[in-house]
Amino acid sequence: MLVLAIETSCDETSAAVLRAIDVPAAAPEVLSNIVLSQDEVHAPYGGVVPELASRQHIKTIAAIVSEGLARAGVGLEAIDLYAVTQGPGLIGSLLVGLSFAKGLAYYHKKPLVGVDHLEAHLEACFLENPGIAYPVLGLLVSGGHTALYLMGEPLSYKLLGKTRDDAAGEALDKIAKFLGLGYPGGPVIEKLGRLGNPKTFPFAVPRTKDRSLDFSFSGLKTAALKHIREHGIVKDDARLPDFLASFEGVVARTLVDHVRSAADQVQPKSVVLCGGVARNTRLRTRFQDFAREAGLDAYVPSPKLCTDNAAMVGAIALKKFARRPALVTDLDLDAYAR
Ligand code: KG4
Ligand code: ZN
Repeated sequence: MLVLAIETSCDETSAAVLRAIDVPAAAPEVLSNIVLSQDEVHAPYGGVVPELASRQHIKTIAAIVSEGLARAGVGLEAIDLYAVTQGPGLIGSLLVGLSFAKGLAYYHKKPLVGVDHLEAHLEACFLENPGIAYPVLGLLVSGGHTALYLMGEPLSYKLLGKTRDDAAGEALDKIAKFLGLGYPGGPVIEKLGRLGNPKTFPFAVPRTKDRSLDFSFSGLKTAALKHIREHGIVKDDARLPDFLASFEGVVARTLVDHVRSAADQVQPKSVVLCGGVARNTRLRTRFQDFAREAGLDAYVPSPKLCTDNAAMVGAIALKKFARRPALVTDLDLDAYAR
């Protein structure tokens, strides 16, 4: 079975073709996974401009889907199943992918599976490691979301905690924007902070008052802005690497501390880390170190599967379809922002 998957929830236009082998026992084979980033479009604004994002998707979606098919070496007539992100995300962006996928499915009389973007991010971990042992504790950390899930079995997600204000990626993006370092902030902070000493600037790991598993990054952002003002840190400052390393370090510590608390509570067999911020080396290392100490199996997708991509959408659609094939002739699928 061949699936064509489309992802346009935010500022990446992506199309992927996957071949199902023996879902869910074996992971599908990713024949292509094309991702066109809109970073250049949004960089001047220091963040994603929703109106520009949807217009850009409209301009590029047909070419990206064609490229996905060409790289996979298949034509539309060979596709058995269509998959698309329904939400959450920017509504205008989501509607571009959804409408495009509906059109293809309708014309070719093939089923269409709508996919949740957050569940797709978690699925990226299983795409490379189909045998992850349940129960699985998952940390999803991206530009729009920071959340902890307990997965007792495939396709089951219990939310254990989420951010009460900014997402971790959003905090990185905002500090980078404030310093005039460009967008997206995470990669540039990682690059410039690589050689910095993360112990230079004292940041305390934030805790919610009720000691819940919820996250809060707005306090950290305020603390960072205070350091910037008090120490007069600017874009070309010699102290910038130390400052960025310190900020990135406390974000990573905060995330992994929450995973540790959640693991104490729910006693998982495995832990997984996903979402755009999971590309971050400091976070990946800290997460793996924690898992080793705790005696847990840890999985982090390869960097390309951490940021938004259609392969993860196709992978979860195949699992959903294998479980409930009847569901998918539905052309009434609607997008949802949250
Ligand atoms: O998952 P994603 O592509 O889109 C959302 O669903 O939000 O994540 C984008 C986020 C941005 O906030 C970006 O700054 C962050 O991921 N990011 C990183 C790195 N690469 C991307 N954060 C830290 N280190 C990185 N290397
Ligand atoms: Zn995402």
